[in-house]
Amino acid sequence: MATTRMLHAAAAVCAVAVALCAGGIGASPAGCRKHVKKITDYGAVGDGTTTNTAAFAKAVAELSRCADDGGAALVVPAGKWLTGPFNLTSHFTLFLDHGAEILASQNMEDWPLIAPLPSYGRGRDEPGPRYSNFIAGSNLTDVIITGNNGTINGQGQVWWDKYHAKELTYTRGYLLELLYSDNIIVSNVTFVDSPSWNLHPTYCTNVTISGVTILAPVHSPNTDGIDPDSSSHVKIEDCYIVSGDDCIAVKSGWDQYGIKFNMPSQHIVIRRLTCISPTSAMIALGSEMSGGIQDVRAEDNVAINTESAVRIKSGVGRGGFVKDVFVRGLSLHTMKWVFWMTGNYGQHPDNSSDPRALPEVTGINYSDVFAENVTMAGRMEGIPNDPYTGICISNVTAQLAPDAKKLQWNCTDVKGVTSDVSPKPCPELRAAGKPCAFPEEELVIGPPELPKCTY
Ligand SMILES: *[C@@H]1O[C@H](CO)[C@@H](O)[C@H](O)[C@H]1NC(C)=O
Ligand SMILES: *[C@@H]1O[C@H](CO)[C@@H](O)[C@H](O)[C@H]1NC(C)=O
Ligand SMILES: *[C@@H]1O[C@H](CO)[C@@H](O)[C@H](O)[C@H]1NC(C)=O
Ligand SMILES: *[C@@H]1O[C@H](CO)[C@@H](O)[C@H](O)[C@H]1NC(C)=O
Ligand SMILES: *[C@@H]1O[C@H](CO)[C@@H](O)[C@H](O)[C@H]1NC(C)=O
Ligand SMILES: *[C@@H]1O[C@H](CO)[C@@H](O)[C@H](O)[C@H]1NC(C)=O
Ligand SMILES: *[C@@H]1O[C@H](CO)[C@@H](O)[C@H](O)[C@H]1NC(C)=O
Ligand SMILES: *[C@@H]1O[C@H](CO)[C@@H](O)[C@H](O)[C@H]1NC(C)=O
Ligand SMILES: *[C@@H]1O[C@H](CO)[C@@H](O)[C@H](O)[C@H]1NC(C)=O
Ligand SMILES: *[C@@H]1O[C@H](CO)[C@@H](O)[C@H](O)[C@H]1NC(C)=O
Repeated sequence: MATTRMLHAAAAVCAVAVALCAGGIGASPAGCRKHVKKITDYGAVGDGTTTNTAAFAKAVAELSRCADDGGAALVVPAGKWLTGPFNLTSHFTLFLDHGAEILASQNMEDWPLIAPLPSYGRGRDEPGPRYSNFIAGSNLTDVIITGNNGTINGQGQVWWDKYHAKELTYTRGYLLELLYSDNIIVSNVTFVDSPSWNLHPTYCTNVTISGVTILAPVHSPNTDGIDPDSSSHVKIEDCYIVSGDDCIAVKSGWDQYGIKFNMPSQHIVIRRLTCISPTSAMIALGSEMSGGIQDVRAEDNVAINTESAVRIKSGVGRGGFVKDVFVRGLSLHTMKWVFWMTGNYGQHPDNSSDPRALPEVTGINYSDVFAENVTMAGRMEGIPNDPYTGICISNVTAQLAPDAKKLQWNCTDVKGVTSDVSPKPCPELRAAGKPCAFPEEELVIGPPELPKCTY
């Protein structure tokens, strides 16, 4: 009874909100949100200088009441909408129209401090709490961030400058962080100049990220593109990323905090990505992988002027595992390393990491790789007394750069097999004459594609 009354109350408040929407909503195609409001309905001014933090907060608070009544969309029209950080709500679409740009405030007082992630135990840059993320949400379901390729601009330069000058006491915020949420779509939007990582789905399930452009200067610090972290069923497709750190980094918590939290990243699909990242990887697995990473499938990805392709980063103290990784179809142009595995990544949250916590890295299959202008084919470093095993590499052509290394493969503490790989691999990866397998069945990852909504 109480629940029914509450639902009715919610619908009534929501109905009031809709009545405020001058001009009405019109018929929405099935599957699109029933209630639609513009950010200007909440007094926002899109001049690039007015601070609209209160408008975004009010909009989300009001539209959150529509969750049980068909959901709501908040439309951000063309213009420059400056705001401090804000949270999203469930059954909600943030729609950025063509020419819309949400600008993150460069005033640090607009960025409250929040608790560190339990699987990290502290902020990633600095101990203790961290600055709020720019757009965030916890415990949400059915959230869509989309539009006609509008932009979310983190205006990160002030943060990068302070980071380089060692003037920050706390960890920088991420551009979009969703925690404990499911059924998320991020599609057809552009993210630029994040203070640090761009998209950070953490403890989430069913996340689809498609048609997303992410841009940051190639020397900006830690501007990772997309970091699925302790998340399951994540699909990343048709994205274009230029960044100062890994284009994609799959993670699952940091040393003893990640081991204790014990939530893996698994069932991850990454396809048709184009990456430019001269000092980092196209796809990194780790280095924070203490809750484990498994069943990652990367297909038909392109990297240009990028340090390495699919890199496994770990170290003593991390614990956890990286297993069942499948990479098929890489087209690589100007690479320092085609294959890179790292067993001594370092970087620990504090001095209480457990030196007996050794990661298990096994079952890593790469096939169908073409690379040109390569400095070194394989830099494969496992962990002494904890080798990386079950590595399979097949059908690889790496054409060397004029200044390529004499030694093309350097392998320590790794074991595996290869077939049809040029240049000739190290003896630790012995010839097998068999192509490396890739799972036959496609992973089903929700949410399903939605009908196109025009707001
Ligand atoms: C967003 O929600 C979190 C709790 O999930 C809260 O700590 C934070 O202050 C909220 N941020 C804003 C800007 O309202
Ligand atoms: C979100 O869910 C997590 C895990 O179920 C829970 O620990 C946390 O308290 C919830 N947070 C909020 C703000 O409801
Ligand atoms: C979206 O905008 C970005 C930045 O302006 C641009 O690089 C990209 O090509 C656009 N994507 C589409 C599909 O128009
Ligand atoms: C993004 O754009 C593509 C291509 O125009 C379209 O198929 C897809 O439905 C769009 N995504 C959303 C969530 O509207
Ligand atoms: C960790 O140990 C190093 C050297 O042993 C010391 O300089 C540092 O202060 C310690 N850090 C913490 C957080 O205890
Ligand atoms: C080998 O890989 C290339 C891409 O680099 C692909 O075009 C070709 O079909 C593959 N060969 C076999 C036998 O799978
Ligand atoms: C090849 O790679 C080198 C760096 O090793 C770079 O300077 C050069 O521009 C690249 N050449 C081409 C044709 O891309
Ligand atoms: C090969 O790798 C090992 C382990 O990282 C390193 O110690 C050694 O210097 C490397 N050898 C060459 C020739 O680069
Ligand atoms: C990788 O491919 C090889 C050769 O087909 C196969 O034996 C192995 O089981 C595959 N690895 C995984 C994790 O499936
Ligand atoms: C994830 O999506 C699949 C496919 O749409 C669905 O069957 C499953 O229930 C979803 N899981 C969650 C936690 O929403």
